[in-house]
Amino acid sequence: MSKVIKIGLLGSGTVGTGVVRVLKENGADIAKKAGAAVVVKKVLVRDVNKKRPYLEDVELTDNAQEIVNDPEIDIVVELMGGLHPAFEYMMEAMKNGKHVVTANKDVVAQMGHELLDMAEAKGVDFRFEASVGGGIPIITPLKECLTGNRITEIMGIVNGTTNYMLTQMTEKGSDYAAVLKEAQEKGYAEANPAADVEGLDAARKAAILGSIAFNSRVSLDKVSVEGITHIEPADINYAKELGYVIKLLAVAKDYGDKGVNVRVHPVFLAKTHPLASVNDVFNAIFIRGNAIGDAMFYGRGAGSLPTASAVTADIVSETRNLVSGTHSMVGCTCYNHRNFCPLEETESSYYVRLHVDDEPGVLGRIATAFGESGVSLKSVIQTRKVENHAEIVAVTHVVQHKHLQMAADILNGLSVVNSIRSVIRVEQD
Ligand code: NAP
Ligand code: HSE
Repeated sequence: MSKVIKIGLLGSGTVGTGVVRVLKENGADIAKKAGAAVVVKKVLVRDVNKKRPYLEDVELTDNAQEIVNDPEIDIVVELMGGLHPAFEYMMEAMKNGKHVVTANKDVVAQMGHELLDMAEAKGVDFRFEASVGGGIPIITPLKECLTGNRITEIMGIVNGTTNYMLTQMTEKGSDYAAVLKEAQEKGYAEANPAADVEGLDAARKAAILGSIAFNSRVSLDKVSVEGITHIEPADINYAKELGYVIKLLAVAKDYGDKGVNVRVHPVFLAKTHPLASVNDVFNAIFIRGNAIGDAMFYGRGAGSLPTASAVTADIVSETRNLVSGTHSMVGCTCYNHRNFCPLEETESSYYVRLHVDDEPGVLGRIATAFGESGVSLKSVIQTRKVENHAEIVAVTHVVQHKHLQMAADILNGLSVVNSIRSVIRVEQD
């Protein structure tokens, strides 16, 4: 094969090393599929003296200009992470006529619009398959394979770190801090794992998915975010007892005339739901479309090789385009301007765990607080005593979020209520 496409990597840590490894180990097949050999010409790193597996024979640099301005480089692959200078480097590469591939959801969620505009202006492609769901193909399927659908709902387990943690805490009763450390050691967690456990990583992915699904830009500041930091072992145990598992979900839902809502929060998910058996670092994205019905995409959501798989797919697509002298037909798909449905207007069933005074009449006062707020209760259980308090768990029927908030405000004002320990949405099959 005579044709060679040269790529430059901006960053070669967990994912970048995986990409170099995949291109080396599967290079012969990739060249046949792409119609050209894909060669890594140069790699940007912070520390050029650090020993790096699989990169022994690749030229390293700590100067990004040597990549984004190199006329021999056709595709720039950004795998350094963070907003800046990753954004500026990608913009510069596209200005120089290079196609850009990234796995960086921070930058796609917050500056995707500018990047896609620049790609269009320069007649190049900006691809970001690995930015959501790690190795799972989801961006291309949404933009291309499902393009004939009106998407009404997406529910996704899109953060490998928290799914790993919740699985270990559920199945092994593992300690929160210990499983977070394990997830970091396995290369799943972000540089600052607060982004994982506080839900921000999932929110970035939710904004990307929502924008593509609803053909309308969902800015990150519109996404309501709740992580898993407040989940206690008691919640995990109640979930088990009641027939649920706790999962951190990214939800994007079309509420018709009210608009669309995109959010991230933990849920009590019925054990029979297809997402309930998605465990450990695995991610899955459940999609409802008006033609396909329900569909689910499942795979490893983080880690070196799985993420490299998605990045490599984008590199191969661009190589094919370069070989055939074209560029992709699908750029920015946000041609609509949908209203955003406020969280208060969304509906769900809720699990509420309270610590209350253990005395006669308390249950009645609690039931009245829910009733006054228009919240109908499906079940109430009182099985445990915690220190000097009784622990009560109520599961509501489906109510608007604002009614649940109203009930919580009244409950917080009752002298017999010591604390509301948890409020978690419940999702049935
Ligand atoms: P990482 O292990 O921290 O690697 C980052 C790489 O970028 C390192 O090689 C680092 O150089 C280089 N770098 C960072 N800032 C730089 C700067 N200012 N100048 C020069 N080099 C710089 O990160 P990662 O886990 O591979 O993640 C890369 C991207 O993929 C992120 O956007 C992340 O969100 C995304 N992603 C990661 C995963 C995953 O499972 N890890 C999955 C999906 C998407 P040194 O090596 O010299 O420090
Ligand atoms: N920290 C992320 C996760 C990496 O745990 O899913 C993949 O984006």
